[in-house]
Amino acid sequence: MSILAELRRRFAAALSAVAGDAALASLAERVIPMQGGKFGDYKAECAMPLGNSLGRPPRDVAAEIVAQLNVSDLCDPPEIAGPGFINLRLRDDWLVAQLRRALVDDERLGVPAVAAPRTFVVDFSAPNVAKPMHVGHIRSTVIGDALCRVLKFLGHRVVSDNHIGDWGTQFGMIIYGWKHFGDEAALAAEPVAELSRLYRLVNQLVDYHAARSETIPALTAELAEQQATVASLTAAPDPADPAERKAQAKRRGQAESQLAETRRNLADLEAKVAAIAADVRLKPLADAHPDIGRAVLAETAKLHAGDPENRALWERFLPACLAEIEQVYRRLGVEFDHTLGESFYEESLPGVVADLHSRGLARESQGAVCVFLDGFDAPFIVQKQDGAFLYATTDLATIQYRMQQWRPDAILYVVDHRQSDHFRQLFATARLWGYDQVELQHVSFGTVLGEDGRPFKTRSGATVGLMGLLDEAVERAFSIAAQSEALTTDAQRRAVAERIGIGAIKYADLSHNRTSDYKFSYDKMLAMTGNTAAYMQYSYARVSSIFAKAEAELGVDVAPLRAAAELRLDSPHERALALSVARFGEALDRVLVDYRPNALTDYLFDLASKYASFFENCPVLRAETAELRDSRLLLCDLTARTLRRGLALLGIETVERM
Ligand code: ARG
Repeated sequence: MSILAELRRRFAAALSAVAGDAALASLAERVIPMQGGKFGDYKAECAMPLGNSLGRPPRDVAAEIVAQLNVSDLCDPPEIAGPGFINLRLRDDWLVAQLRRALVDDERLGVPAVAAPRTFVVDFSAPNVAKPMHVGHIRSTVIGDALCRVLKFLGHRVVSDNHIGDWGTQFGMIIYGWKHFGDEAALAAEPVAELSRLYRLVNQLVDYHAARSETIPALTAELAEQQATVASLTAAPDPADPAERKAQAKRRGQAESQLAETRRNLADLEAKVAAIAADVRLKPLADAHPDIGRAVLAETAKLHAGDPENRALWERFLPACLAEIEQVYRRLGVEFDHTLGESFYEESLPGVVADLHSRGLARESQGAVCVFLDGFDAPFIVQKQDGAFLYATTDLATIQYRMQQWRPDAILYVVDHRQSDHFRQLFATARLWGYDQVELQHVSFGTVLGEDGRPFKTRSGATVGLMGLLDEAVERAFSIAAQSEALTTDAQRRAVAERIGIGAIKYADLSHNRTSDYKFSYDKMLAMTGNTAAYMQYSYARVSSIFAKAEAELGVDVAPLRAAAELRLDSPHERALALSVARFGEALDRVLVDYRPNALTDYLFDLASKYASFFENCPVLRAETAELRDSRLLLCDLTARTLRRGLALLGIETVERM
């Protein structure tokens, strides 16, 4: 059970006895945990708004709530403070009883499954295969995987579905590449390497021509416009009014930074074009394939139209692409129930458009088929002028399929924030189409940035490949493992380095608020102090070492103590640690409020900190009495198991020694 949820239930009952209004149920949400614990463990802030709406002094209302409140089994008598806060302190005997339950429940640590399980489809990872996976895919993969694990742990039904892009233009690229530059022997020997080579080559040539004929001229025009804007803002006289002056300075600053950004982008592009123009191997290829952009689209269209040659190539290439991403998932320890990519829905697309048409939801506009939605500037296009279907159409077909197949209560899409417009339109269309009971959620996330604050790239400018990224983290983690005296063989060090390195990358992704961008930094993510995986893993290993010592030096085994020994919370450090352990279920609930795994990392960090002060102030193996030692060993045991379980729910493995 979550303590917070229980307290809110009790408050909801008291509030309805006081105010009798069901609409006030949300007031119970104003029961919140307190920081520090000086005035109590939780406080309720509902008397002030209720007093306001009843036109009565909040302190009187607070007294009335307290009179109706039935928490004597959980809390010491509530105290009313300040303008009408109700402060609550959990009873120590109740806390101990909670921990006793956790002690004998190895699997769940006393956290019960939800009473009303829901079915969730979680759509995550979803790379466009045939293109190398990049750092953004880690974020989706790691966040989606953690959400699945937490949902399942809490007793919900979860269907994970990897909606890979296996039908898009990238296949047109490798088909074109194969037909013109393919190498049979290389494909037979190392299919993934050969396909990546073709993808990169064709992509480079397409970009080269597009840059010269479209992107550079467009950016140049934009640059000129922005220069003019900056010039006119600079020339404008300073307004006399200080607020006006400030506003104008701000406008100028914004225009200047926009200009700088465009200038940088233009310089990047020009450098790329120049590099190809100077390349003795690439330049002749670029000259020989001036129309490559259009040709790639034509190959994609042929594939979609069922052209036997392209279809056969697609079937030949796809397994290698899948094997490639599978390797990454294995390394990350991530599994999917289904991998139904875009190609799976190909045959149902005409039916989707026809159905939207016949219900009067879609209509033709300038040759395309569109759904016009209230509150959106642009229509949602479901079929292009040339008859081609789009990402949007596939996503609609996917919703239809998922609803028929699994009848979910919610579908979560763990996808980059840049697609938020797409999802808003998709969800609005789906609701009109009749899927208005299911919760459709874009669990969006920000961009991973390099140390320079721009989207993360390697020094060569190519977006960083995923495997290389993982390798580097593990390699750097090896130096941490190498310093450990607890590890004696190279095999041990390597195994620990793998867990630290992969854990570091995952934890960095999960511990940042998912909607913000964050800077990717090996140094930060592998730091041994602060809110990092390495610190959590180290904390876990440190607690574990106590059990080994207890056994070796005192002959005390912790397992039999769980059912028998007494738990005592005499010092504030013991109590703070106990409270933190007991709040594990609360942290998991908080993850699901807005699908934010960082609620769990924050919790674990707090738990580890509480443990650190406990450990500093309360000797365990050298406690004054055997009873106290056993009680403290049990607190260590609970801490270790909660850290381990919590990290496991984030997809992060622990090590017993490091
Ligand atoms: N393949 C897409 C991309 O890489 C992400 C797909 C997300 N899922 C979805 N149902 N649209 O951008």
